[in-house]
Amino acid sequence: TTRTNTTTMPGTIHNGDSLSPTTVTLFDTDPGIDDAFALALALASPEVNLRYVTTVAGNTGIRAVTRNAAHLLSLMQADTDVVLARGAGVPVAGPVRNARDFHGSDGLGGHQRSLLDAGLKAHRVRADAVRLIIEAAARHGPALNIIAVGPLSNVALALRLAPDVMRSIGRLVIMGGAVRVAGNVTAAAEFNFFADPVAAAEVIAAGLTTTVVPLDVTQQVRCTPKAIQKAFGHRSDLYARAMRDFADQAFKRQPHGFALHDPLAVAAAILPEVVRTERVPLQVVTGTGIAAGMSLEDARTFDAAVSEGTLTDVAFGVDTNAVLELFEARVLRFGSRRRSRHHSNASRVVVVGGANMDLVVKSTVLPRAGETISGGDLAQVPGGKGANQAVAAARAGAAVALIGRVGEDAFARDLYAAL
Ligand code: RIB
Ligand code: CA
Repeated sequence: TTRTNTTTMPGTIHNGDSLSPTTVTLFDTDPGIDDAFALALALASPEVNLRYVTTVAGNTGIRAVTRNAAHLLSLMQADTDVVLARGAGVPVAGPVRNARDFHGSDGLGGHQRSLLDAGLKAHRVRADAVRLIIEAAARHGPALNIIAVGPLSNVALALRLAPDVMRSIGRLVIMGGAVRVAGNVTAAAEFNFFADPVAAAEVIAAGLTTTVVPLDVTQQVRCTPKAIQKAFGHRSDLYARAMRDFADQAFKRQPHGFALHDPLAVAAAILPEVVRTERVPLQVVTGTGIAAGMSLEDARTFDAAVSEGTLTDVAFGVDTNAVLELFEARVLRFGSRRRSRHHSNASRVVVVGGANMDLVVKSTVLPRAGETISGGDLAQVPGGKGANQAVAAARAGAAVALIGRVGEDAFARDLYAAL
């Protein structure tokens, strides 16, 4: 077999804009049931170096979403040095909106109280999210990626106060908008853009390197009752009970499966290839009329947008299976350890070794020493002295850590997904 050694750089995957441990992520959120699942995906993903979480009023009020974030970070075992800050309690303009009909007045489907009473040590909260966003942009510049999954009030305010600093960041990934589909709040508008249309309009027009993940794709990716039951039905730990409770609330409104709006934005930041994007001139309708918050794709403004540098990458296609595989492996299995057949609790195994992709061909002859032969049926199979042993130990029920190196190419990405 011919082994493709992908160890050109220590363990990070640089797929153009994808995240990697050498980049830093700031998560701006209004938890929020799907926000909670998105936060779990971010925290469970080695590609996401989550250092900052900022809250914004949206699904419900700023006090509730901030309290939720402080406890969700603890529930999901986030590093205590992840900085959490409270943000805007009202939109930069226009009336205050909410999505309590879906997320509940506490933002977590009525389960906030049980989360607060679970004995978790809530994350410390700073009072100044907008200043934190600007500080992070100034500190990390192009190494900073922002994933915004609530109304864009904080991001808009940071742009107003420090436009040049904000324009130095890497990528802004936004869950928001409904471009070639109807809205989910009005016929025209998706909730995050509807809740603060002026902020959305300013952020989209700011010319940051932006990917918008709209309802066009998020409504295609759903977490079903069957998936929740399979993942959490047999578990009694707090994480499983809490996530199951949040999901049950969502199933009341979407009984066949709730849309993974915010988790898809995180998935697209981690693995950009899970969405198909088009670079289009996008605008957001402001005001309070029937079209307020509408995300408008107007091809007639294409040339102007090119010259102004405001074309926006908008996701119009999604590899639903790839996203659900990532979601299941990282969110639904988060915190679960299959009991080892040989130990009262799973032994910890640390494997130090290589992970590489084996390229295998079939041949009808065995080569003599030094002979070159031809073969067919080329197959690409994850392998490596280390990765194979780690997978075997995990299948035997051990809690395994693999320390190795992969490079920056497609083989590395496939290896990560396989591992
Ligand atoms: O329209 C979906 C968005 O609105 C999601 O971010 C959800 O959490 C709500 O904020
Ligand atoms: Ca949200």
